[in-house]
Amino acid sequence: MGFKTALTDRLNLKHPVVAAPLGRGSTPEFLGALANAGALGFVALGHIPETELRQTLSGYIASAGGADRFGINFVLIADHLQRLETALDAGCRVVSFLRGDPAPYVRRAKDAGATVFWTVSGSEEAKRAADCGVDFIVAQGREAGGHLTGEAPLMTLLPTIVDSARGVPVVAAGGIADGRGLAAALSLGACGAWMGTRFVASAESGSHPGHKQMIVDCGLSDLVETTLFDGGWPNSPHRVIANSTYKNWKDAGYPSNGSRPGEGEAIGQFSEGVPMLRYNVATPWATMDGDWEAGPLYAGMSATLIQAVKPVGELLAEIDDEAETALRRNVSYLRV
Ligand SMILES: Cc1cc2nc3c(=O)[nH]c(=O)nc-3n(C[C@H](O)[C@H](O)[C@H](O)COP(=O)(O)O)c2cc1C
Repeated sequence: MGFKTALTDRLNLKHPVVAAPLGRGSTPEFLGALANAGALGFVALGHIPETELRQTLSGYIASAGGADRFGINFVLIADHLQRLETALDAGCRVVSFLRGDPAPYVRRAKDAGATVFWTVSGSEEAKRAADCGVDFIVAQGREAGGHLTGEAPLMTLLPTIVDSARGVPVVAAGGIADGRGLAAALSLGACGAWMGTRFVASAESGSHPGHKQMIVDCGLSDLVETTLFDGGWPNSPHRVIANSTYKNWKDAGYPSNGSRPGEGEAIGQFSEGVPMLRYNVATPWATMDGDWEAGPLYAGMSATLIQAVKPVGELLAEIDDEAETALRRNVSYLRV
């Protein structure tokens, strides 16, 4: 059996599942594995220098088997119109936005014939997204990993967004790591599930293996919501696994910016040779040179559902099977 929803129909997917952008963990190999398995993966482009964007995208296009077989993502805390232009010019046709004012970006992407996703966390934002002509609204619940947009958990947020979306299909994000979560999201009116933490802990993601293992090992009390990792994105709450950087800051009495332990210290190096400072927003990647454990180990409450690092293909098959089982069981509860 398979699933047929607005998401699978529009993007010709086998699974109603999207892998969130995972910083430098969204490598070409990872997005290629997702595309080959019949799911969609996103890569965030904001950190890629404009001069290198076209070249970088060609690696993704080759690995995914086409510029329309993966998505690109922009967090609109900076001006990314030129990057969007370059990506559209390179053939990219699936785009997602978070924060800021996506309206001009949506217009440009739609003019180019792209499929557009906009992540929201409230009904007013959902109406605005619908009025702007997006193709999919992503509802992000507060239990999510990475940066958080709203306050409500997915269970209450999702039906609210579905009711406000003016018929635009909604994809559910935050706290989903298995087929039961997918079934629940479909039951609440979503057309698919958007998962971040689950795919960090996949064999093919380019996330640091230590980060993957910490997701497998962590319990609810290991996760914290904080604004600590603010280098490059200040005052923005995010959910992470409490690591040495967080614990040292906590032990120091939560000092404010400028007086935090190790402030300004390099914990590693980006591939461009630029130092990665403690409290930087970049999540550790597999080939990171330095103290990966000190960086932001983004993870949602969904981490508590993750027991093993698995290959993408296996994960997606399991998610489908579990969702089908859950939905069939639900039907069996009905008196006929
Ligand atoms: C490592 C990591 C990096 C993320 N980076 C981005 C990003 O660049 N842009 C974005 O829109 N969302 C980003 N997110 C948030 C996801 O899009 C999504 O809302 C979240 O992962 C859903 O919760 P889950 O982790 O429980 O699945 C990130 C999440 C994680 C775990």
